[in-house]
Amino acid sequence: MEPTYKSMITGLGFAVPAKILTNGDLESIVETSDEWIKERTGMSERHVCDEATAASDLATEAAQKAMAKAGVQARDLDIIIVATVTGDTPFPATACYVQKNLGAIQAAAFDISAACSGFLYGLTIADNFIASGNYKNILVIGAECLTKITDYSDRTTCVLFGDGAGAAMVQPSDGKRGIAKTLIKSDGRLTDLLILPGGGSRFPASHETVDQRLHYIKMKGPEVFKAAVTAMGDVAEEILKMTEIKSKQLALLIPHQANNRIIRAIARRIKLPMEYVFSNIERYGNTSAASIPIALAEAVEQGRLKSDDYCLLVSFGGGFTTGAVLLKI
Ligand code: ACO
Repeated sequence: MEPTYKSMITGLGFAVPAKILTNGDLESIVETSDEWIKERTGMSERHVCDEATAASDLATEAAQKAMAKAGVQARDLDIIIVATVTGDTPFPATACYVQKNLGAIQAAAFDISAACSGFLYGLTIADNFIASGNYKNILVIGAECLTKITDYSDRTTCVLFGDGAGAAMVQPSDGKRGIAKTLIKSDGRLTDLLILPGGGSRFPASHETVDQRLHYIKMKGPEVFKAAVTAMGDVAEEILKMTEIKSKQLALLIPHQANNRIIRAIARRIKLPMEYVFSNIERYGNTSAASIPIALAEAVEQGRLKSDDYCLLVSFGGGFTTGAVLLKI
């Protein structure tokens, strides 16, 4: 049975900083090798912000591209949602800086914190706001400057992360295509697997927290790996079951770009050949909430998704959060 569609993505855009950090560059920072990084993650390079750039700068550029594609003016925006764990400031929300940059004076603007699942949480919120009938033009942006919270003395994390932003303009569906289903979950028992411990109300920023390097990402990589494979596989299977769509009907699977071995494991789990799986991890690394919208925008640009194709987005991230969104493009 054809799903019903309340909302659809009408424009996509992304932005990454110009500066590139290669595996070779990392070899001169920590004890690692191009060969290890490529084999264990699939990454070759990642884009890195300069000191002056913050998440809202990348988010604004991505948003302007998505709005231009959709033909939406800033004054017509109803809501701006930014998914980020590296906002410009703890408050106000990064979405408010984006609002100022765009001149979107009518909009409500807020951030959501769901780590790498943030963009799919944002799409879920937008779809439901549009279904309410009260809102029409919603910008959903995933934007991160992860390299600003990366510890370049820790080889187990510093090779993984990059910066970027991706944006989607979400508007009421034409009835024939759009967001078919969303599914978001979290498991708060796993908060310690992936965490930025310092700077919040548990450990407010102090000389001690800085000395202990608590302002940098801490990750239990192998545990995250196992949890990611299970949780992302579960939500992918569940959403296909809920919508009665078979994996062979998918034109493309776009998973969160954290590790090519995780991506391959998810494809195996839903029995999807790798030619139907999108990966750009080689060029961008893990950009957290930005990874899925960047990949979706590139997939459309490259002609890998055409009108009426089914596309499945799946994510996992710190929290532990997971998400799945089935789209008909
Ligand atoms: N270069 C060379 N060797 C390294 C490096 C490195 N950069 N990092 C670790 N190693 C070494 C380890 O020290 C270890 O050596 P040992 O056997 O002598 O102790 C060996 O490589 C194997 O280490 P593991 O951690 O077991 O390696 P693994 O194969 O698990 O790969 C990785 C590590 C890439 C981090 C993997 O666990 C992973 O991808 N985990 C998931 C991470 C992830 O997806 N995070 C998402 C975060 S999303 C968000 O919300 C921000």
